[in-house]
Amino acid sequence: MRKVFFALIVAPWACLGLSGCANCEDSTDATCTFQTNMQEPSTADTATNTDASIARDVLFFLGRKPMPELIQYSEDELRNSAISDLEPRCSTPVSSIQSLSTDEVAYALLVESILSRDPAGHAGLTAMSIEDQRNTLIVANNQRLRSKSIAQLQALNSYQNSRLAYDWLLPALASRLIDSVGNLALGTATFQASALNSISSPPSTVGMDVACIRFHDGLNSWIAVFHKQQPHEDLFDLYVAVGSSPNSLEVTAVLGTNASMGQFYFLGDGVLLLYEQNNIGGPSVAASYYENLKDFLSGQSDPKTFVSQQTLGESAEGTPSLTVIDETADELTIGMHCYISKGGTKVDQQAVAVLRGFLRGSSKDWQWQAQLLKVVNDWLPEDGFTGKLGSRSSFYWANERWFIMEAQGELDNWYTWRIVLGDGLGFVEVPIRMASNSTANPVFTTFLNSSERVAVSTFFIPSEGSGPDQAGELLHIFPLP
Ligand SMILES: *[C@@H]1O[C@H](CO)[C@@H](O)[C@H](O)[C@H]1NC(C)=O
Ligand SMILES: *[C@@H]1O[C@H](CO)[C@@H](O)[C@H](O)[C@H]1NC(C)=O
Ligand SMILES: *[C@@H]1O[C@H](CO)[C@@H](O)[C@H](O)[C@H]1NC(C)=O
Repeated sequence: MRKVFFALIVAPWACLGLSGCANCEDSTDATCTFQTNMQEPSTADTATNTDASIARDVLFFLGRKPMPELIQYSEDELRNSAISDLEPRCSTPVSSIQSLSTDEVAYALLVESILSRDPAGHAGLTAMSIEDQRNTLIVANNQRLRSKSIAQLQALNSYQNSRLAYDWLLPALASRLIDSVGNLALGTATFQASALNSISSPPSTVGMDVACIRFHDGLNSWIAVFHKQQPHEDLFDLYVAVGSSPNSLEVTAVLGTNASMGQFYFLGDGVLLLYEQNNIGGPSVAASYYENLKDFLSGQSDPKTFVSQQTLGESAEGTPSLTVIDETADELTIGMHCYISKGGTKVDQQAVAVLRGFLRGSSKDWQWQAQLLKVVNDWLPEDGFTGKLGSRSSFYWANERWFIMEAQGELDNWYTWRIVLGDGLGFVEVPIRMASNSTANPVFTTFLNSSERVAVSTFFIPSEGSGPDQAGELLHIFPLP
């Protein structure tokens, strides 16, 4: 086993725009850092590729191991890591844990994590065997989800019981957050007129599509990155705009051509932009780094830019969002989707990637490793989302990392896009109280104004199923509960 020491620290830039942010627990933005002090040199060169794995997902999304490490593990390393994580959390002797399959070890980790997060409380978990913990979860599922009898739940394995448990666990942990995201009467909600194809050349004041909007303290202004469709083409250009309010933004530059789905992050003086680059072979994940805000806002023509090869999907990978950044090791953990066959049907699935050496290194130092996720791709279809699982955004709230994501009820049916919220493993639907049933492309940022922490969330409202004048981009600004 490799010895790795973890320290939860906050990088100097992570508090930019978040006055009073004392540590990572306080920060509600995605830009909190898990710093890893590697005791041994990186094993990237010898990394063996393994398949999508429940154990990898569980260790990552429960915050037990960073993805840059997990994504390099062999199957044996992943298994050993899951076993040593489980051992102190139950009374089952390690020799018995070792007789389980890697998936079964991961199921046991899921069960324990659900019980330990249950606000109802379960005393003495570490003194319980894996089987006792499973029975405790079955009783909790039976009490919370009245529709299922003990016998029915006993017939399900611990993976299936864990999926069911998320239906009560997430509301128990985050009902105030879920309600606030969907309650447009809270704070301000505006529909930005969608001015498709109307941009001639910047600067101009325009409507937006799929926008990432952040407040910048130093500039005392709002900055947005959004895309617009090119005239007569099924392609997009990426723009940056600035203004004193999110409703009065002026375009300052075009950031990319044949580019879309931008999300950006302030890193100290610099700006990291993640987006989709549409090449002839279809969209790929791309990253650009601007040394300073001025270069970003003026659309510096040649920022340091990485465009990934499509290593997972057969024709499309995209909607990148930053999940974790480790500035010390120069490792970005990026959420994304890929278009891939599942049971004979091609559908967008969730994936994760690690980009190494990008912030400080030059192109020869850059390393990209992408991996399909498993739990979210298994569970959401069972919860009724059998279509695409697409873009997402992550943030910290109540000391935990949360994900807000779009999920399609039925493949290619634009009436059925819904917003789901969860911890990266399990998700529940966010009821958005508006005329439109269909809501897509959630982008979530937060900042601290003088009195409270404020969430800025945007959604794309497809014209299918939308109310009058509601198609296009919805901007919702509300106090975080
Ligand atoms: C954008 O994509 C189109 C279609 O593939 C291509 O013709 C055009 O040259 C691209 N533009 C740039 C700037 O790469
Ligand atoms: C939204 O969903 C409700 C309930 O399923 C349905 O009655 C209504 O027609 C839908 N509205 C639109 C605009 O599709
Ligand atoms: C802070 O944000 C909240 C929520 O949008 C708003 O109601 C409040 O007026 C803001 N306070 C200041 C001082 O801007």
